Amino acid sequence: MTNRRIYHLLNELLIFILFIIVVYSIFTAYFPVKNRHYSTQSYKYETKMITQTNHDEQIVETLKSQSLNENADRVIKWNTFKKSRLPILPWYFKDGTEMPNKAEVDPITEVRISRLWPEENKDNDRVEEQLMFIPPNYQDENAPIKKILLFSGIENWMVDEGQSEFLSNDCPVNRCIISKNIRHFPSMDVIIFREEFFDPYIETGLKRSSKQIWIFFFLQSAYYAGFNIGNDLINWTATYRHDSDIVIPYARWAYFNPSVTQVKQLNRNYSLNKTKQVTMIVSNCNTDNKRLLYAKELGKYISVDIYGDCEGLKNTKFDNFLQILEQDYKFYLAFENSNCIDYVTEKFFIDGLKYNVLPVVMGGRREDYERIAPRHSYVHVDDYESPEQLADYLRRLDADDELYNEYFRWKGTGEFIDTKFFCRLCAMLHDDDAPIKSYRNLDHWWRGPGVCDHSMKWLTKPRPVE
Ligand SMILES: *[C@@H]1O[C@H](CO)[C@@H](O)[C@H](O)[C@H]1NC(C)=O
Ligand SMILES: *[C@@H]1O[C@H](CO)[C@@H](O)[C@H](O)[C@H]1NC(C)=O
Ligand SMILES: *[C@@H]1O[C@H](CO)[C@@H](O)[C@H](O)[C@H]1NC(C)=O
Repeated sequence: MTNRRIYHLLNELLIFILFIIVVYSIFTAYFPVKNRHYSTQSYKYETKMITQTNHDEQIVETLKSQSLNENADRVIKWNTFKKSRLPILPWYFKDGTEMPNKAEVDPITEVRISRLWPEENKDNDRVEEQLMFIPPNYQDENAPIKKILLFSGIENWMVDEGQSEFLSNDCPVNRCIISKNIRHFPSMDVIIFREEFFDPYIETGLKRSSKQIWIFFFLQSAYYAGFNIGNDLINWTATYRHDSDIVIPYARWAYFNPSVTQVKQLNRNYSLNKTKQVTMIVSNCNTDNKRLLYAKELGKYISVDIYGDCEGLKNTKFDNFLQILEQDYKFYLAFENSNCIDYVTEKFFIDGLKYNVLPVVMGGRREDYERIAPRHSYVHVDDYESPEQLADYLRRLDADDELYNEYFRWKGTGEFIDTKFFCRLCAMLHDDDAPIKSYRNLDHWWRGPGVCDHSMKWLTKPRPVE
């Protein structure tokens, strides 16, 4: 071969490589923008990128702040990536910009692909799907206005009358208005009853219109509060239960990318300076799940400090408690006042996860926590036959920093999102494929057999003879 030929070949090779680079960069710059739709495709793409970032260990810094998110998390920086290649987060994340497109329609069934209702997906709370839903035939400014009546008054809602709630929250579907005037009852599309039900006919003398949707909105534990509502009156429910039509969780964790649930926490030792083991604070001392008894039983095998107003407990102000919680203790008993499906409150989310302490949980079932909490962020009492066995495990974590620190690897992989009840409600009111439904026996659904479990299997366990 002559030099000239080699030179020629190299030249061609160079042009070919340049061509590949250009095609690749056009592809990567274009693809995330094009794929604004909330589909599995765009997730797959983001997955690849985040996994890559992970390997580069671009993880930073805890941000100290009082808000749940900022304090609980660290932020992933994407130093090695140019700005145009950042993953685009859905609009309901703090820095999210991705707005949904109109929902895709299955060409064969001609029904939208989104799964919004418990009938369509009962294993999931559907919160994110609802937040990203715009009906396929939505007419934007020409869509009809849906009128929502807050029948139990507007005081507890922290919203204004009119459309402002939908506009100020940037709801993708905003053609709705809120009213509190019960004399407009017959012309309303939706009636929301909050915490209590009064028959509108008795209150107003006005009859329900045939198309009206009645919603029951309820935040309390199923164990302590029932519904006294006639059969087949309520169409949709809004409660913390994951099979409600519009789920309203106490807090809701969402991953930036569902396939990245754990990251390395560089240079962070969560057991640093902590000299004490388990703590708990109670205000209500006699709950039917006997959480206090459980804690005292646990205290026979590992050091447990219980704070609260009840007899024989350490006394402290709640703010002081939160401070020593993070400083001194490794474990926090986030025990709810009742053991019912999905009943997980701010006790876990705010008091537990917000602080750098490992929550030990009692309340919802294990699978309920799995659905709503960050992965590997807590220890569930149901995984242990008895307080003694739980104590064994906590002592093991206490002695092994590496094992303990593994429970904090979720930090930085997502955030607690605002679940924007009214945005979701408005989108679902415009859903042409909404099921026609009503709850036959609402109280049975809410607190029938199997919903709350106060059998306390750990208590009835036969003890070995001493
Ligand atoms: C974490 O900090 C404690 C001091 O509180 C120390 O004893 C322990 O060795 C540290 N563990 C790691 C993994 O750095
Ligand atoms: C641990 O204690 C040291 C010395 O008192 C202090 O400087 C440091 O900020 C503490 N670290 C944490 C995480 O509390
Ligand atoms: C709401 O419930 C009522 C009473 O059961 C029923 O007649 C109506 O069809 C339901 N509407 C929808 C939209 O589900």
